[in-house]
Amino acid sequence: MIETILSRDLGTPPPAVITDYVTLSIDGQRVTVPAGTSVMRAAALSSINIPKLCATDSLEPFGSCRLCLVEIEGRRGYPASCTTPAEEGMVVRTQSPKLQQLRKGVMELYISDHPLDCLTCPANGNCELQDMAGVTGLREVRYGYDGANHLKLKKDESNPYFTFDSSKCIVCNRCVRACEETQGTFALTISGRGFDSRVSPGQDQPFMASECVSCGACVEACPTATLQENTVIWLGQAEHKVTTTCAYCGVGCSLNAEMKGNEVVRMVPAKDGKANEGHACVKGRFAWGYATHKDRITKPMIRAKITDPWREVSWDEALDYAASEFRRIQAKHGRDAIGGIVSSRCTNEEGYLVQKLVRAAFGNNNVDTCARVCHSPTGYGLKQTLGESAGTQSFKSIEHTDVVLVIGANPTDGHPVFGSRMKRRLRQGARLIVIDPRRIDLVEAPHVRADHHLQLRPGTNVAILSALAHVIVTEGLLAEEFIAERCEERAFSQWREFVARPENSPEVTEEATGVPAQQVRAAARLYATGGNAAIYYGLGVTEHAQGSTAVMAIANLAMATGNVGREGVGVNPLRGQNNVQGSCDIGSFPHELPGYRHVSDGTVRGMFEQAWGVPLQPEPGLRIPNMFEAALDGSFMGLYCQGEDIVQSDPNTQHVTAALSAMECIVVQDIFLNETAKYAHVLLPGSSFLEKDGTFTNAERRISRVRKVMPPRAGMADWEVTMALSNRLGYPMNYRHPAEIMDEIAQLTPTFAGVSYARLEQLGSIQWPCNDAAPEGTPTMHINEFVRGKGRFIITQYVATSEKVTRKYPLVLTTGRILSQYNVGAQTRRTENVRWHAEDRLEIHPHDAQERGIADGDWVGIQSRAGETVLRALVTERMQPGVVYTTFHFPESGANVITTENSDWATNCPEYKVTAVQVMPVRQPSEWQREYERFNTAQLGLAEVRA
Ligand code: SF4
Ligand code: SF4
Ligand code: SF4
Ligand code: FES
Repeated sequence: MIETILSRDLGTPPPAVITDYVTLSIDGQRVTVPAGTSVMRAAALSSINIPKLCATDSLEPFGSCRLCLVEIEGRRGYPASCTTPAEEGMVVRTQSPKLQQLRKGVMELYISDHPLDCLTCPANGNCELQDMAGVTGLREVRYGYDGANHLKLKKDESNPYFTFDSSKCIVCNRCVRACEETQGTFALTISGRGFDSRVSPGQDQPFMASECVSCGACVEACPTATLQENTVIWLGQAEHKVTTTCAYCGVGCSLNAEMKGNEVVRMVPAKDGKANEGHACVKGRFAWGYATHKDRITKPMIRAKITDPWREVSWDEALDYAASEFRRIQAKHGRDAIGGIVSSRCTNEEGYLVQKLVRAAFGNNNVDTCARVCHSPTGYGLKQTLGESAGTQSFKSIEHTDVVLVIGANPTDGHPVFGSRMKRRLRQGARLIVIDPRRIDLVEAPHVRADHHLQLRPGTNVAILSALAHVIVTEGLLAEEFIAERCEERAFSQWREFVARPENSPEVTEEATGVPAQQVRAAARLYATGGNAAIYYGLGVTEHAQGSTAVMAIANLAMATGNVGREGVGVNPLRGQNNVQGSCDIGSFPHELPGYRHVSDGTVRGMFEQAWGVPLQPEPGLRIPNMFEAALDGSFMGLYCQGEDIVQSDPNTQHVTAALSAMECIVVQDIFLNETAKYAHVLLPGSSFLEKDGTFTNAERRISRVRKVMPPRAGMADWEVTMALSNRLGYPMNYRHPAEIMDEIAQLTPTFAGVSYARLEQLGSIQWPCNDAAPEGTPTMHINEFVRGKGRFIITQYVATSEKVTRKYPLVLTTGRILSQYNVGAQTRRTENVRWHAEDRLEIHPHDAQERGIADGDWVGIQSRAGETVLRALVTERMQPGVVYTTFHFPESGANVITTENSDWATNCPEYKVTAVQVMPVRQPSEWQREYERFNTAQLGLAEVRA
């Protein structure tokens, strides 16, 4: 056991920078290590294990336990090896009778105040204290066990996922440091002194009442059973592990599923996961219980009408029925009357098969993805300016960033593990500009404070980005040399002339944005002159009528200041769902084949026609909103929807449900009876990420393996279901494993040419492009030239959204996410995460609340020109006056009942972030909510009757 633990943990982190090497002798072995390496790490690198308790290689050394003492020639005393740097010529001894005696003494003290319940302790078999007792040869405790001790301390069981048993705490401080260094929340302290010193969350509060965000970093760091996952307490230690990838957000954390047979015991963030480096958040670390929730759909079901009860049938019958319905609809309404939707929650291989099914078996290009409603403007805007529809950097790149500009993103909630990494860089001294209508947590977090928070009005991103560019151009802050060498000259001149116009000055745009001109000027100067500057953005940029324009304005800013093409800089879209990048990469938009190649390109199409053996349509197919329109027109009657819940996630719910109600056959493949499934005619059980083999591609273009840890609950993997449907439609698909699907993607997509499961096994993960030119992938893009050759500046004229505040609708509603819930909430609502967020609330500024007689917690009606819903109010100064905010994680909230059909001019990405609304106190649910309740109850009843 000791060998296993120490071989995984080198005790202290490597030095931050390597400038020199030193050679020393440890137990007679010559060891050469980078200068700044601790003696403990140098020894561990040579397989010499020095006992330790307070040290671990994910945290800076602390030097409190005194177990790691060594002898160093020429030095007095017994220095701690974890805090002593290795030096040239040093001669170290790690074992001697005196050291053994000292270490035994340390252990005696620990054990005399420790419950001796090893056999029944949940950490039994995985406890560093137990290991150290063994290593030091502790045989007796001379002090006895009757002195003052902490053995009667009460457990804190407030957190649903882990227990804090203070009686087992050795006060090593690892948890406190993990919360500070790894997570950046600073929720834990050591209170009291000497014998009285104890770990406590917040001001001696239970964990759930403290600032703790339940990331689990402290649990991971704890060497004893003091902080322990409840699942380990209930199930015992795991017997094997499988490395897979988190299926929640676009960070794509690598997780080790620790298993007992087919049961997950716990999820542990993988230390060698390149996206997360041993960290995770409350979702990936703990919220996986939905995978075995009783609500899982495990039997295929069909019904002729949505008012009929569901009928459980065999896979064969369900697939035969779906195929016959699709063919019937095509015969009646034409080839283009059906289509499919790819989900960003599914794997690359599953998405690839769905788009292939639509193009090759349906015979049209009516395939779209949920990226339509989130990052489609990123694809468009970055392709136009830089030449590739993807972010430019790896997450690690932020370690070289001097100025972080966050616009329309909330990393600590939406991308928590990257948010922690960002906070770490900010604590090290990087400067921060936040552009957001809300005071997001990053604006002021422990030891982090934004230099500038430009609290703009929703819908004015383009105006403020142009104003930043105006300052850079007119104050002579352009990276002239970079632009001359790397960018199209004519486009740049036109852009420069455009942004220099007075109408784009901060003084003029202030009226629209509401941000004082001086703040904009100061932020622009900082971005342009503060060193390496990196932009991170999210849906607060894309989900606007000018979403694509704003993305291009961001790329313009980066090019204008030379902040592209090296580490520490760049343009970084923070993708919402786990596989948004991947679902776009593999051709799920109606106008693009895999690798972002337009369907009208005859050469590309010819290559796919040859590989797939069918003619392909040269015209783009329908986007999701066009599918709805066509359904209401009577020309689009059948839909295959895999893993996506368009009823809850798409705007203007009434319009979506009217369109679905008009269709003749909707086939939903999902793990739960989601809101869309309530309008379906065929329900094909889906698989959770724990039941899948495949790959996800995260926000940094990193392709990572998803590995099956348990068999699909309904017997068929999602890719097998799509394949079976295709075969029934007369288009043969014969893959034996998702690896073969990836091989086909690689064969047909130049940016994926070098990707294979074998290569992924070898490298762990790969950032595309991966091909002969970059066999190990591409962490930083556009290094010497842009993918499109010369970078292209594009004029970004600000056009105010047509969604205006009026006397009737005087407030602007903007929407977003919260840490503990994920997207439509279908997964996280079925976990203990509801303990943090059990309902969507309407955040409103105290001034707006007072004006309307609204107190915190009151029921309020929110009315827009699209619809009305009712939520409880959360009165908070995070909001600016005139702007209200809500999340959309619960279907009964109906957040999208009020959002409108306004959308981005280039991509149709909905304008979720700007809806003019009125908010008033009310006493009862809205009419929509009452109707939802009725419909939902009826549908749940129909699902109960599975004749
Ligand atoms: S779970 Fe995370 S946030 Fe909470 S105390 Fe532990 S490290 Fe800090
Ligand atoms: S809770 Fe665990 S990590 Fe924290 S001080 Fe106690 S023993 Fe160390
Ligand atoms: S939700 Fe995102 S940040 Fe959290 S563990 Fe999963 S991938 Fe990582
Ligand atoms: S491990 Fe070095 S003092 Fe604790």
